[in-house]
Amino acid sequence: MKFFLDTASLKDISWATQSGLIDGITTNPSLLSKQAGDLDPRDVLKEICSLVEGPVSAEVIAVDADAMVKEGQELAKIAENIVVKIPMLEEGMIAVRRLASAGIRTNVTLCFSSVQCLIAAKAGASYVSPFIGRIDDVGQEGMDVIRETRAIYDNYAIATEILAASIRHPRHVVEAAMIGADVATLPPDVLKKLMLHPLTDRGLEQFLSDWRTLGAPAKGGARV
Ligand code: E4P
Repeated sequence: MKFFLDTASLKDISWATQSGLIDGITTNPSLLSKQAGDLDPRDVLKEICSLVEGPVSAEVIAVDADAMVKEGQELAKIAENIVVKIPMLEEGMIAVRRLASAGIRTNVTLCFSSVQCLIAAKAGASYVSPFIGRIDDVGQEGMDVIRETRAIYDNYAIATEILAASIRHPRHVVEAAMIGADVATLPPDVLKKLMLHPLTDRGLEQFLSDWRTLGAPAKGGARV
């Protein structure tokens, strides 16, 4: 399973790239506006693209097809690894088709049902982003959308990648991985939580405390 980081924070991205754990980035207008402040968001995206080799999703603001295509083409000029994020709208699907024909990869965002994911794939999206956490928030089962979409895509050998988005906790990651989502995009705090277990902390504490009982430093290792 690929992990993308769902952030526009340069600090978090630099941290995550050092671990080699992330394969790409997703941003959205809310995340970029938080990071950009007075800066031009395109400069922030340029910086992100220089830090990460994999795909970097950048979202259009326009809502009609011609303007989305124009904005998408501009975003794609920022760097080769830009993927243009297009909202799930009728006009959006026209934009996806036109951008795909021009060789520009797209990520269809704000998907909340498996049939929306099927439509995005038929339009030619490279990625589709079902928002798991936001579906859970309204009392439905977000993971069902991933499950149904996986089955539909497998039935028809659809190559569009399922990008599990709006991930809120490690259990979402486990379930999406078991179902076979291609990618999970994680907020930095969730990526950090994936490494945590209380038994790891307790075990390490015990090992270090036992080590401290040694009378002399062990060969090749200092006393802790
Ligand atoms: C994905 O591309 C979106 O940016 C993101 O996952 C939305 O998550 P949220 O529901 O936590 O805002």
